[in-house]
Amino acid sequence: MKAVILVGGEGTRLRPLTYDLPKPMVPICGKPFMEYQLHLMKEHGINEVIFSLGYKWKVFEDHFADGADIGMKLHYVVEDSPLGTAGAIKNVEDYLDEDTFCVFNGDILSDFNLQEIFKIHARMNAKCTIALTPVEDPTLYGLVELDGQGKILRFTEKPKREDVRSNLINAGFYVLDRSILNKMIRGKNYSIEREIFPEALKRGEMLVGYSHSGYWLDIGSPLKYITANYDVLQSRLKSPASPTAQRHVAPDAIIGENVSITEPVWIGNGVKIEDGSRIIGPTVIGDYCTVGESSLIERSVLWPGSSIGNNCSLEEVIVGRYCSIGDKTALGGLSVIGSYNVIVSTKSPEE
Ligand code: GDD
Ligand code: MG
Repeated sequence: MKAVILVGGEGTRLRPLTYDLPKPMVPICGKPFMEYQLHLMKEHGINEVIFSLGYKWKVFEDHFADGADIGMKLHYVVEDSPLGTAGAIKNVEDYLDEDTFCVFNGDILSDFNLQEIFKIHARMNAKCTIALTPVEDPTLYGLVELDGQGKILRFTEKPKREDVRSNLINAGFYVLDRSILNKMIRGKNYSIEREIFPEALKRGEMLVGYSHSGYWLDIGSPLKYITANYDVLQSRLKSPASPTAQRHVAPDAIIGENVSITEPVWIGNGVKIEDGSRIIGPTVIGDYCTVGESSLIERSVLWPGSSIGNNCSLEEVIVGRYCSIGDKTALGGLSVIGSYNVIVSTKSPEE
C-alpha cells in the first residue's frame, strides 16, 4: 500500500512558528513531527510515500531526501499554487498505480491501527474508509454520521453548531479505492472533505467509518502543539520516534550546580543550564539552547539554539529557533515567540 501525505497547507493557526517551518516539520521532542507519522506508516507495512507539497516544500526534501535513512521510498510532488485537499491528491495520481491507496493529513499525531483499517476497507468493499475520532467540539472538523453498521450517512466539513448530531469527526486518514481519482479534476483547487465525500455519498457509494479509540491529536494550534509535546513526553503516544525515557538529558549537556530537573523532560545535545535554575516538566529544551542562572523553565518547549537569560521565568511558553530572551524576562500563558526574536525585559538590574 502506498500513502499520500497532504502537507501543502500554510499552518496559519501555528503562526509565527510556521513562518519559517512548515507545520509538519515542527519539532516534537527533538524530531520533526513528520517522523512520527512516517514511523507509524512503516510499522504498518507502508514503505512508499508521496508527499503532496506546496508551502516550504524544500524543508521536507532537505530533511528526508529519498527516505533511505528511515528505510522508506519517498517522492516529492510540488504544487505551483495550492490545489486544496482534492486537487492535491489528484496531482499525485501518476504515483498511484495500485487498486487502493491511503491518504494522511500531515498534522495528525496518532497511533492508528492501519492494518485493521485496511482489513475493514476490504471486508466492507468500501470506496473509501475514513478513520474517525470523538471530539468535544466537532464544529472545527469534518463531522461524520454513521449507521449501525459503520456506513457513513453524512459528511459535513466544519458544521454549524446546530447541525452537530454526533461527536465523531474525520481523523484525517483515508483508505481510498483508486476509482475515486476518476471523479477528480486535475489542476482544480477543491476539497475532498467539502466536495468529493458529500458527492460520493449522494451517488450512494459505500463510504465507511472506522472509529479509532486510541491516541489522536491535530497539532494545528499552539495549545495542541504544546499538548503533543507533553503527551509524547508522558508516553501517552506509543511511537518508535518517542523518547525512550521520561528523563532524556543528552550526554554532552552541561548542567550547573543546584539545578533541579523534574521529569518528564527532554534536554538536547549541547544544552547548557547554569547554576540554580529549575526545569519542571513536561518540558523540552532543544539542542544547543542555553539557560542562564536562577531561571525557571516550566511546561515549556524551546526550539534549538535559543538562549534564555538569568532570573527568567517561562511557564507554558513556546520559544522558536535562535531566540534570545533577556535577563529577568517573565513569560507565560501559552506565549509563542517566533524564531529569531529578541525579547528584552525593561526591569532594571536592581529589581
Ligand atoms: N498539498 C496540499 N495542498 N495540501 C494541503 C492543501 C493544499 O492546497 N490544503 C491543505 N493541505 C493539507 C494540510 O497541510 C494538512 O496536512 C491537511 O491538508 C488538512 O488541512 P488542515 O488545514 O489542517 O485542515 P483542518 O485541520 O482544518 O481539517 C482537516 O483535518 C481535520 C482533522 O484534523 C479536515 O480533513 C477535517 O475534515 C478533519 O476533521
Ligand atoms: Mg489540521
